Amino acid sequence: MRLHGTMRINARGELEIGSCNVVELARTFGTPLYIMDETLIRQNCREYYQAFAGGGSRDGVLYAAKAFMAPAICKIVGSEGLGLDVISGGELYLALKAGFSPERIFLHGNNKSPSELQFALKSGVGRIVVDNFYELELLDRLAGESGCLSSVLLRVAPGIEAHSHDYIKTGQLDSKFGFTLGNGDAMQAVQIALRAENLHLKGLHCHIGSQIFELDAFRDAARVMMDFLEEIRVQTGWTATELDLGGGLGIYYSADDTPPPIKEYACAIRESVDESCKKWNFPRPKLFVEPGRSIVGPAGCTVYTIGAIKNIPGIRKYVAVDGGMTDNPRPALYQAKYEGLVANKAKEPVQEVVSITGRCCESGDMLIWDLSVPKVEPGDLLAISCTGAYNYSMSSNYNCLPRPAVVLVHDGNADLIVSRETYGDLAQHHLVPERLSSALRGTG
Ligand code: LLP
Repeated sequence: MRLHGTMRINARGELEIGSCNVVELARTFGTPLYIMDETLIRQNCREYYQAFAGGGSRDGVLYAAKAFMAPAICKIVGSEGLGLDVISGGELYLALKAGFSPERIFLHGNNKSPSELQFALKSGVGRIVVDNFYELELLDRLAGESGCLSSVLLRVAPGIEAHSHDYIKTGQLDSKFGFTLGNGDAMQAVQIALRAENLHLKGLHCHIGSQIFELDAFRDAARVMMDFLEEIRVQTGWTATELDLGGGLGIYYSADDTPPPIKEYACAIRESVDESCKKWNFPRPKLFVEPGRSIVGPAGCTVYTIGAIKNIPGIRKYVAVDGGMTDNPRPALYQAKYEGLVANKAKEPVQEVVSITGRCCESGDMLIWDLSVPKVEPGDLLAISCTGAYNYSMSSNYNCLPRPAVVLVHDGNADLIVSRETYGDLAQHHLVPERLSSALRGTG
């Protein structure tokens, strides 16, 4: 397993993160346990900030909270100068509760409900990113009713195919997101938004997908969007002042992955926009980017306790851990590959190749196929790296498994930022109608 951020192996052959011993963290907080490396999160935020917003540039970086939403993370990214991209009333609620300034929050979503839009208007979010004609009309009406002018961006599907898993591509023509560029919908949406009494159109948005390594895809998206801004200027006389190019920069999960550095990604985007501005003599819009995975992904690690081991000689050795697709559905959903390490035997020589399976009642509940490990036994601790993004946020209670805790480590301190769910938490939303209350009395 490649070591990320502040990960190191100590003299006893145990994994440490943020100067905290993972074996001790597991003992204190239990397993499965998500461990988030604050130093690496801050470092990633700073790289983005430097590349886009620092050095006199006025461009903005918004952390895409869907990657991992927690009030403590909002505090960290906010203190590093980043804004926030939220996707629902729930994310907005948590962000506001964390004290995030509403004007630094952008609300996204392809089917925002009227009450979510009202909540966003009432809280004074910075931008609402309008996705479709239904929402355009709805938001104009709701803003009018609440007597405010809503600053909006329009989400455009630019028709860019990025190489990524089909389920996390979003910019292509056949996509549920945004106004289609190629068939005139996007231009029509701009015209409607410009006429709308209660909307203040600031610019456009696009997001071509996630876990993308090819800088050309980002360059192309920027160029296509700038060409469209020019076309709008010619047709309507309106000059956009903002362009939000979404998130999507890929990260390293396994040796198959070769992500470009944040700095190169930023250069590619900014150069592409600058070239277009020059070509069209267009005043440079303020850029926004919305990274999620590349801020928190490599900063997260999940630690599990190994339990049952099933050997099928000549076929496979299954090593089961105390979590699985409930805390990390990505291998099952996207065939995602991860790296792992036996955290309490990190210096022991490799002796066998095993497959790491979860504890759910599902054959597809596999976390890693074919991992080289030292001799493992029940009670050993398995660490899986790069689980900081889209793991906790996509976790579930399948099989009534309580969600794990999340601990934030930094310079020898370990602070719980999300507590472990209990059986009581699982029970709290269930109701039994009065007429069933005696149903099991006297049975069994
Ligand atoms: N902006 C918008 C509008 C988005 O839809 C997304 C991600 C982002 C920004 C952040 O993208 P990132 O920088 O994290 O790639 N569950 C999938 C990923 C879904 C991404 C959804 N949208 C996964 O586990 O790979």
